Amino acid sequence: MNMYNSKIIGLGAYVPDNIVTNDELSRLMDTTDEWIQERTGIEERRWIEEGSDDSSAVMGAKAARIAIDRAGLTKDDIDFIVFATLSPDYYFPGCGVLIQDLMDMKTIGALDVRNQCSGFVYALSTADQFIKTGMYKNILVIGAEYHSNGLDKTSRGRGVSVIFGDGAGACVLSRTEDNTKGILSSHLHSEGKYAEKLVVKSPSIGHWVPEIIASDGEDISYFPYMDGTFVFKHAVVRFSEVIIEGLTKNGLKKEDIDLLIPHQANLRIAQFIQRKFGLRDDQVFNNIMKYGNTTAASVIIALTEAWEQNKVKEGDNVVLAAFGSGFTWGSVIIKW
Ligand code: ACO
Repeated sequence: MNMYNSKIIGLGAYVPDNIVTNDELSRLMDTTDEWIQERTGIEERRWIEEGSDDSSAVMGAKAARIAIDRAGLTKDDIDFIVFATLSPDYYFPGCGVLIQDLMDMKTIGALDVRNQCSGFVYALSTADQFIKTGMYKNILVIGAEYHSNGLDKTSRGRGVSVIFGDGAGACVLSRTEDNTKGILSSHLHSEGKYAEKLVVKSPSIGHWVPEIIASDGEDISYFPYMDGTFVFKHAVVRFSEVIIEGLTKNGLKKEDIDLLIPHQANLRIAQFIQRKFGLRDDQVFNNIMKYGNTTAASVIIALTEAWEQNKVKEGDNVVLAAFGSGFTWGSVIIKW
């Protein structure tokens, strides 16, 4: 029995104002609204506008301020920061320390999580462990992505670029002594042999900027590469497995799921899972139509919106699940 449990007590999200529709993309590259909607369900996404001050850290701070406020706390009540992103402001240091500075927080610890689409699930699980051991009381957990500046917006990159969007979400995870509520369990997995199936290869220390420049445009290893069909096939299997693993651990059945929030990778993946588990529309929350795939931010933006729409109620069994680059995947089972 844990001494403490952890509970989400505040949620916040921020997305840039700039809406980019599928039709706008079709003016940049050889694609159509029809193709994008049919394959992914995405209607539009937010891309940070040129000249904006937004970045992963800045958007993360905006979401975090809302989450802390809704938790009824102040920044000085926060004991630790966990920040998940694959698009950090700097190569190093990570975005966690930038949050500490941007939000003028005490010199608390800041940890960066690099698990791509599973980033938020990994970050939440990490924060949960720190709370369960009694080390910290209030942890700020952030997922944020600034994809748009790093995408190949030509026809060459169309299989990837149309999917990704920018945005951030945050929550405050807090100690509770009520063992019946909060995070019941989390389940994390990886399979690194598929690292190169969804990857931004460089710049890496072994393949640094001068080599890329010297290639005179031939080397595009700094753009995301994805073997979409391969990723899709693994995603549907791993999503299912890790949700079942979480339910089994807690003696729950699929009928007990009040709300499933799948990582917003592709609406077709979420619909496949919904069918497989026999869930009604009101038991699965999707917002990829509006935001595209915001990677480490997607689960927390979706959870925030679901909560804002009163779709998460006291006592509900909420399941978060994600799969992505690494490969990594995971689930978190919450009694709200
Ligand atoms: N517009 C028009 N045509 C396109 C586009 C586009 N934007 N992109 C690709 N095509 C073409 C391809 O060139 C191909 O043409 P061809 O048949 O002449 O060669 C055709 O459409 C089919 O391409 P596929 O890649 O086979 O399309 P698929 O049906 O697999 O859909 C998609 C692609 C949407 C990317 C899908 O595979 C997918 O969603 N995969 C999983 C993504 C995912 O879950 N990622 C994990 C999370 S992301 C993370 O962790 C960072």
